[in-house]
Amino acid sequence: MYRSRLGGDIGDATLRYVSSVDDDAEIMAYDIIGSQAHVLMLNRCGIIRKTDAKKILAALRQVRYSKKSGAEDIHEMVESIVIKKAGMESGGRMHTARSRNDQVALDMRMKVRNDINVICNRILDLAEALVSVAGSHQKTIMPLYTHLQQAQAGLFSHYLLSHADVLLRDVQRLAGTYGRVNQSPLGAGPVGGTGLPIDRAMVAQLLGFDGIVENSIDATSSRDFAAEYVSMTSILMTNLSRIAEDLVVWSTAEFGFIELADEFASPSSIMPQKKNPDILELTRGKTAHMLGDLIAVLAAVKGLATGYGRDLQQAKQAVWSASRICTGALEVLRPLLLTIKVDEKRMRDAAESSNLVALDVSDRLVLEGIPFRVTHQIAGALARIAHKSKKPISGLQINDAKKAVRGTSVDAQLVLDVASSATVSSSLRERKSAGSSGYAEQKRMIAGRAKKISSYRTELASRENKIKSALDYLQKQADHI
Ligand code: ARG
Repeated sequence: MYRSRLGGDIGDATLRYVSSVDDDAEIMAYDIIGSQAHVLMLNRCGIIRKTDAKKILAALRQVRYSKKSGAEDIHEMVESIVIKKAGMESGGRMHTARSRNDQVALDMRMKVRNDINVICNRILDLAEALVSVAGSHQKTIMPLYTHLQQAQAGLFSHYLLSHADVLLRDVQRLAGTYGRVNQSPLGAGPVGGTGLPIDRAMVAQLLGFDGIVENSIDATSSRDFAAEYVSMTSILMTNLSRIAEDLVVWSTAEFGFIELADEFASPSSIMPQKKNPDILELTRGKTAHMLGDLIAVLAAVKGLATGYGRDLQQAKQAVWSASRICTGALEVLRPLLLTIKVDEKRMRDAAESSNLVALDVSDRLVLEGIPFRVTHQIAGALARIAHKSKKPISGLQINDAKKAVRGTSVDAQLVLDVASSATVSSSLRERKSAGSSGYAEQKRMIAGRAKKISSYRTELASRENKIKSALDYLQKQADHI
């Protein structure tokens, strides 16, 4: 449709190579809505007549996606259908004072802002699930790990809440991105704006944007908003991938801490007994794919000369892929988590089997006025003796305590008293520091997170309502011009 300057028609292979029509299926709805707002503005600013605007808007209502349109992208496809239906005299005016360069940036921003909201809703659902499972496991003792070696005694609720906190930061990160994405580039033209008396702010308002991307070069050629979105969703996926990794490890026969519900496990084609955690493995695998998407966007923009370049067309795939991957992961991880079977005894036995109270013993001796470096040495010696004699620290005798205090001036009886009363549950009762595995902290944190989730939901709903009411109003205007 645009080839008047060029001689021959484009061949099939060339069209297939340059076309983004397949990828553009994801933004057709936004392209149409954007055109409605643009046409209303053109009419209100006196650039096109009401009769032409009416015909264009009626034609836009009848646009259907067609794979065989011969167009290079959705913008050409929609415009050619509008011209066919409304006639050149009216339809030929729709593209006045805009370019595909501001148009595609608009469509992408509308899709990304929508996807951010969808994703934030799902993150909050998952965070809520984590908090609710945490609520049932405030007394479920487990080992906490560093270097994947048992480190301290802890609680399963504490573990779950740690991921809820990470996810709530993902929501915050995406909310920040949303503010930068929700700006309208429309009316920037190909790169330098237009001499026609358009009103960019009006279009922005009709489409529910918070403002405009002011500089027309920036508006048409920057994709930092896309890179930011894929970065934030990549961080989100790496966070989900870490949960997946833990659950994979904990569902092995060797750990046996958890068992996935049958609906969220996969069989083997040959080994009848198998129950594989494929969903979790795919979460790790899809995260790898997502990191590739991030590189694809960054690489597409890093060497781009000023202004729009067709390289940018490729960035779309990566953005769509990012949305698909993380919405899918969030959707499936929530029910997986809610149906997980936790073997509380296995967890507790693991926590009790390897003298995880050593640090608590050391801390209690500190309360007796002994320097930490000395108490650390004594507790270390107790742990060594306990390990060798295959006894728990709490089962050691006075002779063991005497060995442990050797070279210090600490009273062996005091050490024995502290050691023999040191159990995992007593240490969790005493753990009082903010954010720790202490029993009391669980209750406080669960209540705090539930409150946070509900305030994030309110914020999110107000973002969604702003868009919805703008677009409802736009439809009314478009229908009754
Ligand atoms: N299909 C293009 C894209 O997705 C739209 C913009 C094309 N602009 C141009 N001047 N060729 O990026």
